[in-house]
Amino acid sequence: MTSWVALCSQDELQRNGLYVLELPSTSIVVFWAEGEIYAVENICTHDGGELAGGPVDGTTVVCPRHGARFDLRTGAVLAPPAYGPLRTYPAQIREGQVEIQLGDTPR
Ligand code: FES
Repeated sequence: MTSWVALCSQDELQRNGLYVLELPSTSIVVFWAEGEIYAVENICTHDGGELAGGPVDGTTVVCPRHGARFDLRTGAVLAPPAYGPLRTYPAQIREGQVEIQLGDTPR
């Protein structure tokens, strides 16, 4: 069974707009966008750029390195130079806490 991992409070996520979880194996960023939370791998599939800090337009994040665009809801690529989708993670707010499921992500 996959368990939920608590990251931060909803207030903190709303205030900062994002939360980054660094793991030994990867980096995950949770965005607050359009009143929802979205968790995606924080590594652009074009050339490994960090997506945290890239502009968010609606539910689209723009990679700050070369401008690839991704749909935060699905991880799908919306504009090159990236062609592969981002990995997404289930995310929820429970009792005021932001939680994600890491699935089979090595920790
Ligand atoms: S590293 Fe993201 S667009 Fe190039």
